[in-house]
Formats: sequence, C-alpha cells, structure tokens
Amino acid sequence: MPRLGFIGGGQLARMMIIAAKRLGAYCTVLDPDLNSPAGQLADAQIIGTYDDAQKLSELVSQCDVTTYDLENIETQALVELAEQGHTLHPAPQLLWVVQDKLRQKDRYREAGLPSAEYQAVPIPNEEAFAKFGYPLVQKACRGGYDGRGVAVMHSAEDFAKHLPVPSLVERFVPAKMELAVMVARRSDGESVCYDVVEMIVDSEHNVLDYHISPARISAALASKAQKVASEAVAALDGVGIFGVELFLTQDDAILINEIAPRTHNSGHHTIEACYVDQFEQHIRAILGLSLMGTAQHNAAVMINLLGQPGYGGAPLCTGLEQALALEGVSLHLYGKASTRPYRKMGHVTVLAETVEAAIEKADKVRSWVKIIGEETI
Ligand SMILES: Nc1ncnc2c1ncn2[C@@H]1O[C@H](COP(=O)(O)OP(=O)(O)OP(=O)(O)O)[C@@H](O)[C@H]1O
Ligand SMILES: [Mg+2]
Repeated sequence: MPRLGFIGGGQLARMMIIAAKRLGAYCTVLDPDLNSPAGQLADAQIIGTYDDAQKLSELVSQCDVTTYDLENIETQALVELAEQGHTLHPAPQLLWVVQDKLRQKDRYREAGLPSAEYQAVPIPNEEAFAKFGYPLVQKACRGGYDGRGVAVMHSAEDFAKHLPVPSLVERFVPAKMELAVMVARRSDGESVCYDVVEMIVDSEHNVLDYHISPARISAALASKAQKVASEAVAALDGVGIFGVELFLTQDDAILINEIAPRTHNSGHHTIEACYVDQFEQHIRAILGLSLMGTAQHNAAVMINLLGQPGYGGAPLCTGLEQALALEGVSLHLYGKASTRPYRKMGHVTVLAETVEAAIEKADKVRSWVKIIGEETI
C-alpha cells in the first residue's frame, strides 16, 4: 500500500485523498488545523504549520511520496528533504520557481513560451508604472491567490490602488476568453491533457466564478492551447498535475497566464465528467502509474460556491434541495469550519448532453445555491 503525504489539508488534499483511498493508499496530512477539510478524511494527521521543518521531516519520513495542497510554502526545508532522498512531487525546486510570479514568467521567457510582456518592479512607484505604460496589471511576486495579489490598472489614476510589495507589471491582455488546461506528467516525461476549459472570472474580485468544459473554441485552437500547456509543464520538468491558465487573445494567440503546480479549480468537473478525475490522475502521475482517461463523456459546468459577502461563522448552504432535485447536479462541500466573504466553500458540477444545456441548468443552480454563515459581519 503506497503511503502518501499531503502538505496542507484544504479541499484539494481532501479530494486527492478520496481518489488516493480508491487506489488503496495510506494518507497522512500535515496541517495546523486538526479538523481541516482533508484531515477529516485522512488515515493520519500531523498537526503543524507548513514551514515547520521538523513536522515536514516527520511527514516525508513516514511517506513514500509527498505532495501538496498549496504552493505557498517555504521551500528551503523541502529542498533539503529532497536532497536527503525523500520523494516529493512536484519537486520543491519547481515550487520555488512557480510560487514567485516573476521567476515563473522568467522561466517562460527563457523557454521561449508565449506570455504577456512584463517587467520587474521591486519597489512599485508611479514613474516605473507610467514608463511601462497603461493599461497594465500589477502582480505581487509572492503570496497572491484568488486574485488577492493582482491589481488591474487602466490609467495612471489607478496607481492609487497599487500593492506596496515587490511586483511585476504586465501588459493588460484584452482576452477573448480565459482558458485552462489540466496537464498530468510523469517523471519519464509521458503526459496527458484534459479538454480545454473556459474560465469565467469575476472581474471585480479576479476570482474564478464558474467554468465551462469543453471550451467553446475550435478544435485547432484547443490543440494549440493543449500544446502550449504541455510544453510549459515540460519546461518546468513537472511531475504530477498542473493547472495551466491561459489567455486567448483577440487574434487567437495563446498566452500563458500562470501555472498552478497542483490540482486546480479548473479541473473539478473531471470528477463527474471524465473517466479518471484530476485528483486520481495526479496520484497516478506521482506514483508513476499509467496516465489515461482524460476523455470527457459529458459537457460540464463547474460553479464555485464562494462565501457570500456579509457572512462569517459556520457555513449554511441555501437552495440545496432545489439544486439536488435536478439531474446531473453534483454538490461538493469542503467541510470548512467557517465561511468568510469569497472564501471557496464548495463547488457544484452540472452535467448535460451539450454545453448549452449545461449552462442553462447551471444558471438556475447559480441563482439558488448560496453559502451564507451563522454570523453576519
Ligand atoms: N495580464 C492580464 N491581463 C488581463 N487580465 C489579467 C491579466 N493577468 C491577470 N488578469 C486577470 O486577473 C485574474 C487573476 O490573475 P492571476 O491568475 O495571475 O492571479 P491569482 O491571484 O494567482 O489567481 P488565482 O489564484 O485565482 O488563479 C486572471 O484570471 C485574469 O482575469
Ligand atoms: Mg490565476
């Protein structure tokens, strides 16, 4: 029975564990919270923070392969553990590259991969931004997720909302569409791609609202997106699954936005819509098992269930009954102890014969299902 370690006990680890248990693995989670979403399902838990070298060493020593729920972890201790011969996938060195948006962009540039033009701005200042030119997007090098480290600026007046941290500025891409491709890759270089997903981002909060799969683009564009995504993961020498976020430009070019070195929100529909879901595919990839089953047997829409603004405390889900009475609707709640505005609390996948039918059904579900909380804030 393979012993798998998970650094971080969030919803991604929770769903990886569901898949890993199917394959007979023994799963240990490291998380500061005893009752984390993944801790609730794991065989064993280590309570500790992700940057506690002692706890990380304890985890990897107990496991054959260790992987991650999140990428914002101090990598020094992980690099040392890998050097001592412990297996971590993806490699800590890869995490170090990807967790800094500037290093990540540098890597694409070195590899000759398409990505929006950018410039490093270690200390954000009005002159540097103006010189680069508006409209631009400022991105914090470190620590951003769910749009929190991103500021879209249309003109010099928007400089007022800049983030006072080491950053890069990037050309604003007036994208026709935002796409994502999940790519799984083994250490021998074999890789597979899922169908291209169309991401609908909430532009006020820059967070994924819902996604549609397969994306409503031509087969030629879909192959082009999959090719760029696979090349990007190969350039990182990635082992595991990767969420490659892309822009489709007005003139049908594909640009890499960023890569998540892990299972990803844009692959959640694969649980119901594909033969092998992204979580199992990741486990297969890191264990060196066969990669397959990416074919999608139904059209799908995935809706994020974000905490409604104005609520905190224990989560409550409204509109559930109505949604569950619709055929092809699957609900996933992550078991988080408390909600807060825009926190990812769960998701819903809607399947149908066609993308149009799935969107129609999903619109209903979106209007019914809301996550509120026991407390108003
Ligand atoms: N250069 C750009 N031009 C136009 N829009 C952009 C650009 N870069 C980012 N955005 C918008 O901001 C969103 C969030 O950006 P990005 O993916 O870099 O940040 P993030 O915080 O890591 O996001 P997440 O964790 O939600 O994936 C993108 O999905 C896109 O809608
Ligand atoms: Mg993103």
